[in-house]
Amino acid sequence: VKYILFLMIVFQMNGHSSAYTGLTGEDRQFLFHGSQGSEIVPYDWLIRLKSAYERDKNLNWDRGFFDDIETRVNILPNQNPNTYLMDFIGLSATWTGHHPTKSDALKADPETKNDKPGMQPLYRVINEKPSIRMVGINCSFCHTRQIVTPNQKVTIVGGASKASFIRLYEDILKSVLALTINFENQLTDFLIAFDYEPKEAQKLANAFKKRTMSETRLGTKISLLMTQKGLINQQTRLFAKEGKNITRQLKRLLRLTHRIPKEQKLSREIIGKFERLALFTQGYPLFTTQGQTRRLTKFKTHEAGFGRLEAFISAGNIEFRDRKDWVNNDASVSYPAIWDIQDLATFHYTANTNSVLLRNIAQSVAIGGTYLDGKYEHTANVHNLLKLEQTAYKIEAPKWEKVFTQEKGDAFKIDYEKASRGQKHYEKRCAGCHTPQMAGPTGELKEFKMIQLDKLGTDPNLAVNIAKPVSRSTSYSNIFTETLTYIVDDYAKKYQLKKEDLNKWLDLDRRGTIWVRESYKKNEAQYQGVEDGYSVVKKGSGYKARTLKGVFTTAPYLHNGSVPTLYDLLQPASKRPVMFERGVNEFDPIKVGLKQRLENYQNRGLIEAYSVNAFDERSKKRRIKDCSAGIRNWGKKVWAADVCFDTRTSGNSNSGHEFGTDLKEYQKDELLEYLKTL
Ligand code: HEC
Ligand code: HEC
Repeated sequence: VKYILFLMIVFQMNGHSSAYTGLTGEDRQFLFHGSQGSEIVPYDWLIRLKSAYERDKNLNWDRGFFDDIETRVNILPNQNPNTYLMDFIGLSATWTGHHPTKSDALKADPETKNDKPGMQPLYRVINEKPSIRMVGINCSFCHTRQIVTPNQKVTIVGGASKASFIRLYEDILKSVLALTINFENQLTDFLIAFDYEPKEAQKLANAFKKRTMSETRLGTKISLLMTQKGLINQQTRLFAKEGKNITRQLKRLLRLTHRIPKEQKLSREIIGKFERLALFTQGYPLFTTQGQTRRLTKFKTHEAGFGRLEAFISAGNIEFRDRKDWVNNDASVSYPAIWDIQDLATFHYTANTNSVLLRNIAQSVAIGGTYLDGKYEHTANVHNLLKLEQTAYKIEAPKWEKVFTQEKGDAFKIDYEKASRGQKHYEKRCAGCHTPQMAGPTGELKEFKMIQLDKLGTDPNLAVNIAKPVSRSTSYSNIFTETLTYIVDDYAKKYQLKKEDLNKWLDLDRRGTIWVRESYKKNEAQYQGVEDGYSVVKKGSGYKARTLKGVFTTAPYLHNGSVPTLYDLLQPASKRPVMFERGVNEFDPIKVGLKQRLENYQNRGLIEAYSVNAFDERSKKRRIKDCSAGIRNWGKKVWAADVCFDTRTSGNSNSGHEFGTDLKEYQKDELLEYLKTL
């Protein structure tokens, strides 16, 4: 408690600021909270829910879902919460059943007057069906971060987020599933928070539990495990076959909490969102492969941890691959920073597409968007996606001096003379790859080179797994582009979206024909987009070089986020930290990157402080302890693994990109100084 009080005082003393220009206040609010159609959890539940994670930690349920969510998920509070309902950056709330341009839930909505535990929530009725507020995430959850220094906390809009998507949803799922079996009287208390009399709440909760148990094949096991192990983390293995049951329970719970009469049918949209939430309980997206099969152990996976998510493999396994083609799901990637994207020629670490459409829709589908009745009718909010995209175009890369305005210490001063010496090393050693060439039909797009794995040497999992051939005759690229194009066509028809607007968004004049690289065919080389002025990509190419603008804010480095500082990246792989803490916002101005703070292990990982990767003065050796040291049970071990990043885990390798590591120490120092100025 003392520690928390101390932090609160420090935080209040710190100045909050946002280091960027180009965005108006309104832009910023929209980027933080505008709905993209991926919302899947009822708002009225979340504000009354107790956190299962906090229960694991303290062994009682007195902590609300939003209590200390900053530490748990590393989500950032919006310093100037405004019109939108949610106060955390990257959380959005939407009214179901509304026109996409009018669906964002606002603080000014009259229904908010009942938004308190103990009160009955108010819902709307549209076409005779209930419309409720649902919460989810948008771009900013993954593309905004904070940099903390002794006197400042700066929000970097568009920056590489350090939040944990998996933790956010794991906690929601565990907490909600506990309700359905009235675990430790959670449902009773929950219903009281919805203004039921205690006696009635007890009765309803017991009946609810009984029904869940009778309908769920694994019901007994669930309760047994939850009791014995804390609310264990990997529900996947338990719930693989329970999707339908869980959806049914969620619907029943909603009727109870919102007092929706039997005669009133639930909308297809709400049901679709619950199906999506149920899919998450089966481990999607992290454990997708296993969730779909009984052969649970065949495919590898790993903890994504803070600031990472597996983006393409699980979607590929679910949507495009036949069972016999499934690949390992152990290739999580860091959330990239998204400045300078308007002119960016190819997207993603593997440069697999030129399409803004594909990227946005696929992203919204993956994290909670859901199909409605028609084949391609979908909850993705294309109006808002379009607007979010256009707003993101205005984000400018942060500059060192504009970020550290309150820091007077030497560590925060740039030595420009030294930097200009560093620039020479940069031009000789780095610029060849990190400077884009012009591409696209009009030659206005910036294309970064794809570098072959054997030359680059960074973790191969993503590049290799995404390129494993499929046995289907239809190509991956065709399925992808067709599905997504149909979704948009369907949407455009339904809402009479203007073709000009859509084309402007898709930037077709400058981007040319939409393509997805045929990574699943055994081509010698990939020619997609060549006629539109994009480069041929050689077979076996690994990853795209990226802009290094604002690179001082994007740690940890490389596509899998395996190197904590720029200093470490300039060391040969054998000298880079074997383990480090990923979910940190504290900035190290000397090594440029994540500052290691062992207290965070205690807070976030529920483990005793211990030294990771410590240097033992006496033996002159590095003592490496396992990430899971000091953890008392399995549930806690899983939580801890996403705090402590172990580069020895599959997909987490910190090898490769040894460019510049042979420079002399003073030259590296000069280069580092220059990198601060980019
Ligand atoms: C759930 C987290 C998440 C959300 C939400 C999200 N993104 Fe991303 N985004 C990612 C990840 C992860 C990647 C990298 C994927 C890869 O390259 O394999 C990415 C890649 C991108 C890229 C490509 C960057 C590059 O240099 O290649 C852009 C641009 C982008 N996102 C923009 C957006 C916009 C705009 C939104 C909102 C409309 C959004 N993202 C929402 C996680 C997210
Ligand atoms: C042969 C091409 C090549 C050269 C030379 C090169 N890089 Fe890179 N660089 C890449 C590629 C490709 C990546 C992406 C690797 C990955 O993510 O696995 C990358 C990634 C990086 C990153 C990580 C960016 C981030 O946000 O995670 C940094 C920093 C970087 N390079 C700095 C440098 C510096 C400094 C030099 C010169 C000493 C240099 N690079 C030389 C190709 C190159």
